[in-house]
Amino acid sequence: MATFDIFVLPGDGIGPEVTAEGVRALEAIGQRFEHVFNFEQDLAGGAAIDAHGVAIRPETLERAKQSTAVLFGAVGGPKWDNPTAAVRPEQGLLALRRELGLWANLRPVKAEPALMHSSALKPEVLAGVDMLVIRELTSGIYFGTPQERRVVNGRREAIDTDYYNEDEIARVAHLGFRAARERRKQLTSVDKANVLASSRLWREVVVEVAAEYPDVKLEHVLVDAMTMHLINRPSSFDVVIADNMFGDIITDEASVLGGSMGMLPSASLGTLGEDGLGLGMYEPIHGSAPDIAGKGVANPLAMFLCTAMLLRHSCGLEDEARALEGAVARAVDDGLRTADIAAAGERTLGTREMADAVLERIGA
Ligand code: IPM
Ligand code: MG
Repeated sequence: MATFDIFVLPGDGIGPEVTAEGVRALEAIGQRFEHVFNFEQDLAGGAAIDAHGVAIRPETLERAKQSTAVLFGAVGGPKWDNPTAAVRPEQGLLALRRELGLWANLRPVKAEPALMHSSALKPEVLAGVDMLVIRELTSGIYFGTPQERRVVNGRREAIDTDYYNEDEIARVAHLGFRAARERRKQLTSVDKANVLASSRLWREVVVEVAAEYPDVKLEHVLVDAMTMHLINRPSSFDVVIADNMFGDIITDEASVLGGSMGMLPSASLGTLGEDGLGLGMYEPIHGSAPDIAGKGVANPLAMFLCTAMLLRHSCGLEDEARALEGAVARAVDDGLRTADIAAAGERTLGTREMADAVLERIGA
């Protein structure tokens, strides 16, 4: 019987509600497939600021490093929204990414036929959308130094630095090409090479890496054009790679294609072992959604899909991951809806009811 240590960081807003369902999903999988999942939990984000004055404590980061995987809810909310505050909830998330060396963020986006009505785009544009966006996560303008605010000659100014080195770019490129090989063999690299030096290096390194993957078709797209293409021809994309900042922006845009942000998982991974497995952090992309926090109406499906990714990438349990993904798909096919994915007049379920419906369908 295999044992896995799952470190749970529910965070803020709807984070605790959905991570509780993620834990139940893993328990259900453990029972059915005879694995043991041990859970430990700690505070992150606003909850940690309230309790400890920092967005994440050093001992929490240490504990996270020792785990098989981190299940993460969401951080942030109006209570901690002051952008000039020295301590902000998002710092917890950024510290986890950086300290755990999670340099690749995988965000799969699929348009579910049953949910196309809840997207702002036409069904004929959405048909066939199935892409994997891989965002670089521990470098670029998020972490480059200097990053500071200062007063010079009595005038406020601020500086951010967009830094990349070739190793940071090459490993994302390799991951993208390898993923494309397993899929439709197309890779789109997003940059702003017509303006930024860091993007010109990005493009140069991606082209060098491409030589090792002659079977994959590579296209370069400038980020501004990409925002248009994602709306005009979203089904033409297979695997997309982008730096930290551009990846942040285009994945929010791409999430619209999936019908609801409440459906989309993400995995943050570092350098994997020989077996293709490694420590990862799994987090729905919907965020803390303070407007619906505590109401029991949040969609748990993104979190379920996160736990499936956790089973796949950190535990090596592919069958179990598919069982969970299958259960989510069956619940959606059976017409079960939380408010965010319901058409007008459709009956809606709360978080717990939806989760129960999925868990009943595991292995069905
Ligand atoms: C995301 C979020 C984070 C980011 C914020 C909360 C720091 O937008 O994961 O996409 O910008 O990376
Ligand atoms: Mg974002």
